[in-house]
Amino acid sequence: MSLLCYCRAGFEPELAAELGERAAEAGLHGHARANRGDGFVVFAGADGDELDRALPWRSLVFARQKLRLLAELRGIDPTDRIAPVLASLQGMAAFGDLVVEHPDSDAGKPLSGLARSFGNAVRPALRKAGLLAASVEAGAPRLHICFLAGDHVLVAQGDPRDSAPWPLGIPRLKLHPEAPSRSALKLEEALLTLLDERERATLLRPGMRAADLGAAPGGWTWVLQRNGLHVTAIDNGPLRQHVLDSAGVEHLRADGFAWQPPRPLDWMVCDMVEQPRRVASRMAQWFAQGWCNRAIFNLKLPMKKRWLETRLCLDQFQAEAGKPVTIRARQLYHDREEITVLAVAQPLLRGPRD
Ligand SMILES: C[S@@+](CC[C@H](N)C(=O)[O-])C[C@H]1O[C@@H](n2cnc3c(N)ncnc32)[C@H](O)[C@@H]1O
Repeated sequence: MSLLCYCRAGFEPELAAELGERAAEAGLHGHARANRGDGFVVFAGADGDELDRALPWRSLVFARQKLRLLAELRGIDPTDRIAPVLASLQGMAAFGDLVVEHPDSDAGKPLSGLARSFGNAVRPALRKAGLLAASVEAGAPRLHICFLAGDHVLVAQGDPRDSAPWPLGIPRLKLHPEAPSRSALKLEEALLTLLDERERATLLRPGMRAADLGAAPGGWTWVLQRNGLHVTAIDNGPLRQHVLDSAGVEHLRADGFAWQPPRPLDWMVCDMVEQPRRVASRMAQWFAQGWCNRAIFNLKLPMKKRWLETRLCLDQFQAEAGKPVTIRARQLYHDREEITVLAVAQPLLRGPRD
């Protein structure tokens, strides 16, 4: 059995290293097929079920999606792509939903039109063959058909409890016209994907107090303010006027590595562009000192050995925080050469490193 994971194009070696190391820690062996720029990694191992369980999607930093590969179809006849797909699924139970997609890569993006039209054509054929439920069944395995080329397809299966619900593993968020920067989408995506609905409702409540380190021009402050939080925005740079004018926002021109809150806060968020280990260490100090008990921060990754650096930074953060902290880390769709980390000084029920 093989896993099929999608990632940001260019981060295939990081994802392969992450899968390999995490599998080895669980006493399992696997090997990755990963080519830089492909936007996906296939990870094969002898004991598929154990491998699948040892690598939950939510625990993976660099995987946007995690699926079980069912078949790889090469050299498909472009005049009948449906028959080989149906043949590869013979004898299987009906899937609850269908996603036809392509890697988010230079080679994959031009295949979006083909994926759409093939989806329209294959859906009724799958239903007729008893391979797809008549209407979406939320809890049942999802069928993924991933086009790598016009004649090359990966057929895979997604467990709705252990995979991203969005096509290509990408949550589509629209930039609000009043958002001061595109960075606002990063924090919105982090809140959407690193917390579930129940956790958001309990951990992020109106009236809570937050600090935003490296706040200018104010995207993250604006997101927190719209969630009803009081925000102290720390940056020597200017904030957009409409953010400054909003209720509950205070701007302090100060160094985010030196400023400390006069009294403990609920949240701290940080988007300062700095050496990741320096950021991880300062973030840990906030937890060790009890200045906050929830945080979301970005770690800008170096050009090389990015999985190693990720690992070092997260371990360093955990060690220096001086108390048990739930950590969830992910390279978000809106992240570039960086990852986003959620840290909460209490156990959360599900997911990675909890
Ligand atoms: C990527 S921008 C932040 C964007 C912001 N999160 C938003 O949504 O609009 C990084 C910011 O960090 C600030 N910064 C970098 N080092 C800093 C420091 N030591 N103290 C305070 N701000 C810092 C920069 O001035 C810059 O405005």
